[in-house]
Amino acid sequence: MCGIVGYIGGRDATPIILNGLKRLEYRGYDSAGLAVLENGHIEIRRDAGKLSQLEALVNDMPIKGKIGIGHTRWATHGEPNARNAHPHIGSTGDFVVVHNGIVENYLTLREELIAEGTKFNSETDTETIVHLIEKYYASSGSLVESVKKTLAQLKGSHGIVVMSSKEPDKIVAARVGNAGGVVIGLSEDENFVASDLPAILEHTRRAIFLESRQMAVVTRGEVAVYDINGKDIHPQVQNIAWDPVAAEKGEYRHFMQKEIHEQVRSLTDTLAGRVDFDEGSVLLHELNLDSDKAKRIQKIIITACGTAAHAGMVGKLLIEHIARIPVEVAIASEFRYADPLVDKNTVVLAISQSGETADTLAAMEEGRSKGAILWSIVNAIGSQAMRIAEGCIAMQVGPEIGVASTKAFTAPLLDLYLLAVYLADLRGVIDSKQRYSLVNDLMLVPSLVGECLDREAAVLDLAKKFRHMRHMLYLGRGINMPIAYEGALKLKEISYIHAEAYPAGEMKHGPIALIDKSMPVVALTPNDPWYDKMISQIEQAMARGGEVIAVATDGDKLIRDLTDHIMWIPKTPWLLSPVVTSIPLQLFAYHIASLLGLDVDQPRNLAKSVTVE
Ligand code: F6R
Repeated sequence: MCGIVGYIGGRDATPIILNGLKRLEYRGYDSAGLAVLENGHIEIRRDAGKLSQLEALVNDMPIKGKIGIGHTRWATHGEPNARNAHPHIGSTGDFVVVHNGIVENYLTLREELIAEGTKFNSETDTETIVHLIEKYYASSGSLVESVKKTLAQLKGSHGIVVMSSKEPDKIVAARVGNAGGVVIGLSEDENFVASDLPAILEHTRRAIFLESRQMAVVTRGEVAVYDINGKDIHPQVQNIAWDPVAAEKGEYRHFMQKEIHEQVRSLTDTLAGRVDFDEGSVLLHELNLDSDKAKRIQKIIITACGTAAHAGMVGKLLIEHIARIPVEVAIASEFRYADPLVDKNTVVLAISQSGETADTLAAMEEGRSKGAILWSIVNAIGSQAMRIAEGCIAMQVGPEIGVASTKAFTAPLLDLYLLAVYLADLRGVIDSKQRYSLVNDLMLVPSLVGECLDREAAVLDLAKKFRHMRHMLYLGRGINMPIAYEGALKLKEISYIHAEAYPAGEMKHGPIALIDKSMPVVALTPNDPWYDKMISQIEQAMARGGEVIAVATDGDKLIRDLTDHIMWIPKTPWLLSPVVTSIPLQLFAYHIASLLGLDVDQPRNLAKSVTVE
């Protein structure tokens, strides 16, 4: 996951930036760099690989200065090499930028800039930002104005930190959306900028968290915060607890809320290094596959527990639809004793956040003992499920602390989509045009998720209204049916409200008898191929006095006429809709439990890692 650190003050910036980047190392990265203002001009050191390589470079060619910015990068646009590593510098050498997020319209911006004569030195989307700042500075003569104008041009969700030799007394930082958190650390006669608190905690405990669409001008003695239209903001200065666990929670009340909000970034990181948007291709080298091996696969069995199994259910539909390989989903605790039909042409694919779930590991062993090809999608680095698999897709979402899984649910949804496209390509099931379009859709996901998070207040209102219910029914169909299961699981595990999920078409075969005013129905009705079917289920529930809470796409008049309780989501390509529909359901469960005053992060009877049978 990309990390940012910046410093301005009276001390040598280089070691402070390197140390800060080290504190973010656990998030993962594939290149690193820093820029320091030395005697009035910007000096950059950057390299592929680990921070130790950057340190060696800095030892060979030291840079000294009292203001600087640094970055660890997971590649999204262009391979991890020194040229593509951040910071990126403009053509005049006067402006330098580090960036977290994806510039969704970078191709258009790049073409426009090239047509105006700009020369690009990297394949990154980030380089467009520094060239735009440079261009706007030429007309405005103000760094803040040029950053504002640049932000207005960028589509997507971003955290940006800028430094310039033209205005050597400041760092400008900005946040738009949720891809890049920006925190400003305040101290005596020096200030810090970072993407994450751990980077600056050794220097200060006083911090300002930028909200979306805010920017900060950070000088040695002062920090001024504005909205991106230039209006003054009086930000709240937070005093961060000394307890390292509480400190990690940062601006959020609970880890679960923090982790829900981290998803723009975790999903950006999920794509990092695996997608080449220019080529429209997916790279999953970690599976050691070639076309012959991919063609020999006759069946995939996805095995997992709980939330991870719900991700697997979405994966079945994605892989069958895109790659046309038969997929079964097997609950790991059942699969391990089921004497399953598995052979050397079967892939057993385990999904696990912890990588230590006893049932999942036993299911993997069962697959292996029958000669299956063993793959896994795992979050915890170095865990058993990662080690015993022949090929493992690491989730890249960072540690998940809240017991109820959120960011480790949406990441495997994207991993499974990537896997489906990768397999389809290797097996020659899709042509390059289809592949390009499938890959291109991925670019939108982080900001679609960000839009859902921006609507948290509306979900909170619904949570207030329904928090005293004792039962709820969740309905979905097709690719969103597993999201109904996941939404119900989230609600029951943290709020202790009984929630059941059904494929909506099953209602008439029994569960519809349950419906009355005290049993609200949460209905997933995004714009997917099952939409019409879902509408008729909603009508049937309403005809029996049920109150319906719908998850629906912006502008859906039909739903608006049917119910007043709607969690709106932005228009989304249907194969990716489960990632987006998950967000309001996570927020809904979270706010109900939080309003009820429950222990959201550690619900009763549950453990984060279930290492016993
Ligand atoms: C629910 C939840 C659990 C886990 C399950 C598997 O929010 O977190 O259902 O998904 O215990 O755990 P992992 O993914 O660690 O194998």
